[in-house]
Amino acid sequence: MLISTESLLKDAQEKGYAVPAFNIHNLETIKAVVEKADELRSPVMLAATPGTIRYMGADYLLQIAETANRKHDIPVSLHLDHHEDLRDIERLIELGARSVMIDASHKPFEENVETVRDVVKFASRFGASVEAELGRLTGMEDDLHVDENDGIYTNPLQAREFVERTGIDSLAVAIGTAHGLYKGNPKLDFDRLREIRKEIHIPLVLHGASGLSSETVQRTIEMGICKVNIATELKIAYSSGLKDYLQKHPNANDPREYFSDGINALKQVVENKIKMCGSYNRV
Ligand code: 13P
Ligand code: ZN
Ligand code: NA
Repeated sequence: MLISTESLLKDAQEKGYAVPAFNIHNLETIKAVVEKADELRSPVMLAATPGTIRYMGADYLLQIAETANRKHDIPVSLHLDHHEDLRDIERLIELGARSVMIDASHKPFEENVETVRDVVKFASRFGASVEAELGRLTGMEDDLHVDENDGIYTNPLQAREFVERTGIDSLAVAIGTAHGLYKGNPKLDFDRLREIRKEIHIPLVLHGASGLSSETVQRTIEMGICKVNIATELKIAYSSGLKDYLQKHPNANDPREYFSDGINALKQVVENKIKMCGSYNRV
């Protein structure tokens, strides 16, 4: 059985840390994330975008995540990241997923509310947790490309109405972070985060953490962020390590060997981010 994320996020909220959500892409990256999290005794979320589901196959992915959760005595949850389609989410919940993000943040407010409500209604029958986004992050995440001019910050009062009307378990906020790396020094709107926190009491989620300093992320955690999403820095570490290895060993042809440096580099990022989130020794 896969686990929902309600109790993970509630624990983080009570104790003032954040659960890291790492975007994974294959068996190697899943094992690396979970082994490092186990070593550091951290709860962990494995995040899969629709692109990852297409790439890995839902059945393989769900089985692997379930095996990881069974094998390790830390909470390992599989989380559907940036899913936009209700039918897709329904199918994946029926297959066993228990933690989902419905991203209808591109829709007008009323439509966003309606879409999210439908997902919450379905998910609640299975005890699955639901995250939604209000406002719009810029940058690039798989199929999702949002131009700088199309970003919208989360409105605190609207956030309150959104949470009340949808019944979601956690809310992704737009406070100036972006998917991918940053061009200059990102400026986050901490005042806005404080206002959002005053209005709503469910766990808040920070997307786009790659490229932010630990100090910046830790400040958001002190202000109520309970889940931190990390994708791009993992991709960079994994592919850089692999490129280095193949450059050093041009005749390498054994995947059991040539992934090693990439995996080690990825594990180092996972360790840094777990420390940044303060989620180690929580299990
Ligand atoms: P980064 O790629 O900036 O780490 O963003 C990750 C994310 O928000 C996944 O949903
Ligand atoms: Zn995201
Ligand atoms: Na980022």
